[in-house]
Amino acid sequence: MEKLIINGGKRLNGSLDVMSAKNSILPLLSASILTDEEVVIHKCPEISDVESMIKILMKLGVDVKREGSDIIINASTINSCLIPTELAGELRSSIFLLGSIIAKLRCGQVAYPGGCDIGIRPIDIHIKGLKELNIDIREEFGHIVCDGENMKAADIILDIPSVGATENLMMASVFTEGVTVIRNVAKEPEIVDLQNFLNLMGADIRGAGSSVIFIRGVKKLHGVEYTPIPDRIVAGTYLIAGAMCGGKIELSGVVSEHIHSLIAKLTKTTCNIEVKNDKIKLYSNGDLRAIEKIETMYYPGFPTDLQTQMMAMLTTASGTSVIVENIFETRMREVPEFIKMGADIIVKGRTAIIHGVKRLHGADVVATDLRGGASMVLAGLRAEGVTTVRELRHIDRGYESIEKCFESLGADIRRMN
Ligand code: UD1
Repeated sequence: MEKLIINGGKRLNGSLDVMSAKNSILPLLSASILTDEEVVIHKCPEISDVESMIKILMKLGVDVKREGSDIIINASTINSCLIPTELAGELRSSIFLLGSIIAKLRCGQVAYPGGCDIGIRPIDIHIKGLKELNIDIREEFGHIVCDGENMKAADIILDIPSVGATENLMMASVFTEGVTVIRNVAKEPEIVDLQNFLNLMGADIRGAGSSVIFIRGVKKLHGVEYTPIPDRIVAGTYLIAGAMCGGKIELSGVVSEHIHSLIAKLTKTTCNIEVKNDKIKLYSNGDLRAIEKIETMYYPGFPTDLQTQMMAMLTTASGTSVIVENIFETRMREVPEFIKMGADIIVKGRTAIIHGVKRLHGADVVATDLRGGASMVLAGLRAEGVTTVRELRHIDRGYESIEKCFESLGADIRRMN
């Protein structure tokens, strides 16, 4: 089993270029099967969630190649609408494939999806929306079996603005005659990215970024070359690392607007942040002030995917901070790992109260999920002494060579078997 060994306490200095967002690439890969022409997606990091999605597409008969950081997809050879059970279990985003597979082949079958085990993560909103498009859906032996022969445009209201359900329904209705309206949709930048991508392929979609999306069905989509938006969560993770360890970090290839809520919080902790075009510079002396309250919210609120990294940071900020997790009910599972390192955190339901301590000390900890895992690395970088982080498979789902990135910034970190 691989582990990271971190000798903490080093300042971080240097620059990083941010790759395309995992949470854009996954739906875009799914949308790529909607045409028989070639699709090229640029600047894709080598992370296991993307590789799992590629494996699923290949099982469906889709031709997928990687050339450096480009992924090239040709779905003219697709021959199955059955998402393989063993692969679907690895990746929650396999559910996003359902919409595009039904749109393309008028049928689809998938096992209940996997992914980070944070909270209950039901798929009822996806299923309800697909049913409103007049797709016949049965549940058989842990599988969702869909028949889309009689699909019809519909006016759908989502119970909550689910990112995945919004994306799934946008893809499902792309060829459906008439105008499909989806209300109370997610407004995340990845939704706008999917709309831009599909429209470049010839789709007719408006409204992404607002709370209503209109999809006028078209007959056919064509190939496209596309660079997805930069990964705001990866960018945010490195900024938080810089803030807590002290030093000077410059990120390039970022859309600062996408992490406005984070920048606003970091500037409250004594960090100095400069934004210019696609660059963000952060200066920090590592002596941070507590943040009175952070509540995770749908975009443009504070992202749940940066919540645990903030918790790592606030463990050593002077004063008391409060974090409320509103999106996923069990996203506080890394707290015992922080406590092993000397943190003082009390959790009550969805709220964590963090009393800043003077220092963290190295410990043997495990990554509990993707973002929790990244947060353990951050805590290890700040701690005095040696930290070992295990279960790296979680971190590798969304961060490309996390140890190399931090090493290039001056951290003492290595991956070992
Ligand atoms: C996406 C992101 C994930 C991020 C999350 C919230 C991808 C690949 N993943 O996940 O990184 O943490 O958005 O920003 O883009 N829900 C239901 N029923 C459903 C669907 C969702 O109750 O059918 C609930 C979930 O349990 C959760 C909330 O809605 O409490 C938000 O989930 P959702 O926006 O769907 O997250 P994902 O698309 O899975």
